[in-house]
Amino acid sequence: MIRFIEDQDEKRRISREVLEALKEWFEVDESREQYIRESADQPFWAAFENDVPAGFLCLKETGRETMELAVMGVKKDFHRHGFGRRLFAAAKDYAAQKGYDFIQVKTVRTGMYEDYDITNAFYKSLGFKELEVLEEYWDAANPCQIYVMSLKSVIGTIDTRHSYRGKFISEPVPREDLIAIANAGISAPSGCNKQTTDLVVVDDPETLDKIKALIDPPVAQTAPAMIVVLTRRINAYRDRCFAVQDYSAAIENMLLAIVELGYQSCWYEGHITDDDRICDKIAEVLGVPDEYDVVCVLPVGKAEEDFHAPSKKSFGERVRFNHFGKE
Ligand SMILES: Cc1cc2nc3c(=O)[nH]c(=O)nc-3n(C[C@H](O)[C@H](O)[C@H](O)COP(=O)(O)O)c2cc1C
Repeated sequence: MIRFIEDQDEKRRISREVLEALKEWFEVDESREQYIRESADQPFWAAFENDVPAGFLCLKETGRETMELAVMGVKKDFHRHGFGRRLFAAAKDYAAQKGYDFIQVKTVRTGMYEDYDITNAFYKSLGFKELEVLEEYWDAANPCQIYVMSLKSVIGTIDTRHSYRGKFISEPVPREDLIAIANAGISAPSGCNKQTTDLVVVDDPETLDKIKALIDPPVAQTAPAMIVVLTRRINAYRDRCFAVQDYSAAIENMLLAIVELGYQSCWYEGHITDDDRICDKIAEVLGVPDEYDVVCVLPVGKAEEDFHAPSKKSFGERVRFNHFGKE
């Protein structure tokens, strides 16, 4: 279990317990004490197994667009339990949600010590890329390898996109951002390139209010903009209609563009296409012609509240290589 820790004494206690158990990496008393002291003021996540701290991770801001993985440790008994990855996933989510573009981490470069070779391999497996080695940053026996990761790569954005159902701040979304998001939507693939998905971008406060008033139970009531997704159920060939696939691809492209630009959203389809047909009422307000159906609304805005990734099945439960049943 991963927990975001806010209490400073608890942070100091956990970081001490973990770092003192990892003397191979944190042998110099002075720098270990500094990590412990500084951890109290940093965003801090701890991993627990049966309420016992197994590891922790802290971030610190090193530039307007960059967070550093300031320190991370997992006790040896808990190595290979997936704690390091889960700690990092939580920290990466946090940095992306706060609008940072990069995460960097420093370690002793590969080829010096076996323990650090493992650390290097771990960072690479998380997706970090080698930025530079600074030979004298610490001292000649400990050349400093700097790794960097972009939080705005496609895969980084996929990792940090989650449905956001909280309140939005009231700041309007600039037209250029709405255009970029809508453009991502209409750039999606479509069966036989039939381009069956159209969009109505709503940023006029009066029209937004009319749409919000139709959504019952209310959702996205504070969103400063919404993208309404329309589909035309025409056949791609013979009797094959790919309209659902087409608009799904468009929606996912837009969700990723929304997150990449620092906003949040949620795919509201079930909510508006149920028996009460809120979608048809939205279509009427927007003057949508009969041959189109409204299928989804995507609120767009900056999140006011914290939020977390929902729990999902593990990779191994859903992905197999080469055969469904055998290794
Ligand atoms: C076809 C479809 C319809 C959805 N409809 C709704 C909806 O009406 N209301 C809602 O709150 N979330 C809706 N969602 C969002 C899912 O609940 C959400 O994607 C899922 O719980 C996984 O969470 P994640 O998006 O954070 O990964 C919908 C998602 C899809 C793909």
